[in-house]
Amino acid sequence: MNKNQINSNMYTFKDYLSFQKVDKVLLEKVKGEKIVQEKLPYKRTELAPVMSKNTLDYHYGKLHKAYVSNANKGEGGDFQIAGAFLHNLFFPQFKAPSGTNNPTGGIKELIEDNHASFDDFKIAVADKAMDIQGSGWVYINKNCAISTIANHKIVNNIVLIIDWWEHAWALDYLSDKEKYLNNIWKIINWDVINKRI
Ligand SMILES: [Fe+2]
Repeated sequence: MNKNQINSNMYTFKDYLSFQKVDKVLLEKVKGEKIVQEKLPYKRTELAPVMSKNTLDYHYGKLHKAYVSNANKGEGGDFQIAGAFLHNLFFPQFKAPSGTNNPTGGIKELIEDNHASFDDFKIAVADKAMDIQGSGWVYINKNCAISTIANHKIVNNIVLIIDWWEHAWALDYLSDKEKYLNNIWKIINWDVINKRI
């Protein structure tokens, strides 16, 4: 990957499919372990107005909790396991909002190596997210490839992941999911992202 590959559309269709493949090895590993719901490294009131306490109460406090509980009871199959797994990557990524919350460290370099600017990167993520039909996720892997997941699937090497299910944004943004995505960059904790690279 180099600076010429500034657009995720440059991936072939075969690449695109491979990014979405379930990581069977990781799935089996996760299946063999009790899943623990990650504790939030912030108070539920702290992410407002980007993500409200109401959304966190519902999304983290009820939905994510249920995925974890169902997965550990062996109910709902791989769907519940993947739901628990992906939300465990999603929620710890945030911190209280700040106006200019630009990437730092390794993720800054990775973005600069693959995109003309942070703004270009954000546009590429938004373009990819808008491709999702129905429920899913958009994520960045360790190579800075931007990919999507339909519904829930376990994939490896996720460094940053954004929940694109309606439950993630509808309470706060009604139908304006683009605004949700534009705002979410204000609460990304780049230190957490850098630990995943
Ligand atoms: Fe979710």
